[in-house]
Amino acid sequence: MERRPLGESGLEVSVLALGTWAMSGAVESWGHVDDRESIATIHQAIDCGINLIDTAPVYGLGHSEEVLGKAIRGRRHEVVIATKCGLLFPRSKNELPPRCLSRASILRECEASLRRLQTDFIDLYQCHWPDPAVPLRETISALTHLLEQGKIRAIGVSNFNCEEIAAAREFGPVHSVQPPFSLLQRRAADDLLPYCQEHRIAALAYSPLAKGLLTGKFSATSTLSGIRARDPEYMGGRYQRNLSLVESLRAVASRLGRTVAQLALNWVAYHPGVTAPIVGAKRPSQILENVGGAGWQLSDEDRAEIGRLLIGSGHGG
Ligand SMILES: NC(=O)c1ccc[n+]([C@@H]2O[C@H](COP(=O)([O-])OP(=O)(O)OC[C@H]3O[C@@H](n4cnc5c(N)ncnc54)[C@H](OP(=O)(O)O)[C@@H]3O)[C@@H](O)[C@H]2O)c1
Repeated sequence: MERRPLGESGLEVSVLALGTWAMSGAVESWGHVDDRESIATIHQAIDCGINLIDTAPVYGLGHSEEVLGKAIRGRRHEVVIATKCGLLFPRSKNELPPRCLSRASILRECEASLRRLQTDFIDLYQCHWPDPAVPLRETISALTHLLEQGKIRAIGVSNFNCEEIAAAREFGPVHSVQPPFSLLQRRAADDLLPYCQEHRIAALAYSPLAKGLLTGKFSATSTLSGIRARDPEYMGGRYQRNLSLVESLRAVASRLGRTVAQLALNWVAYHPGVTAPIVGAKRPSQILENVGGAGWQLSDEDRAEIGRLLIGSGHGG
């Protein structure tokens, strides 16, 4: 699979990345998952040439990192591990994960992630969400310290806007950023992606399939649960508009001999400024379909047609 530079980090990553949030084992979020199937999914991804695999401590309170650690035993050299810091484990089921990007907390979290991942170093270490309570100078200097120690190889941020990235770069390198970006969530194209291009920062687009909605497998009568039942894209009139967009995309995809998921991933992967979409999967068969989202490119006419379909289905320009 095609590789691209991860900003100015010196690392090279596949044009599609694998996300492991859905492998977290948190039934209330993504439903039942079988760890053996998750491991088979990770192996399938590596076999298909995907080298960038994204996780986070908070995904299943350590579970996703542990599963990834087991999956890459003996294959560590084939993967670029991206994990995160700054979202702590909530004390109760109803509490949101507290944010903390203090130096002491980052150093503690890094050691815990290294243990769960069964590795000596993390390739890409990302701040999961901004923490306004801690000065960015402290956060970035802690990450730079880890870089100097060789415990991490690149520094990333996630859910940061351009101003926050610019402020962070005053104190050290920022090699990548993770924004949400898909056919349904295109805000990053307005400012963040051009900013990344200008400053050679890798943009890793998360939720490129809108949590599966852009695969075409949902309908008006689908039973929605967990994370999807709480997502505005799956609610009321917005859900209906999304379903009607997916139906019109299906026609374009089938004319091109592709599936809707492949079309949606390709649209993200080859969008100017994007380094790689991070696509979640729980089954090897999903990987086999999703890798067909790379290795070809929508023509300008196809992109223009998709733009018209977005407008026609009430999704703006
Ligand atoms: N930085 C952040 O704040 C942040 C936030 C969100 C996500 N992320 C990262 O981005 C990754 C991807 O985002 P995401 O998981 O929210 O959404 P996504 O990639 O848009 O959707 C992934 C889900 O869609 C379904 N799916 C994938 N391929 C499919 C296929 N070919 N056919 C049918 N269904 C398919 C699977 O769910 P089912 O099998 O359950 O249907 C899968 O878990 C995450 O794993 C995580 O690494 C980061």
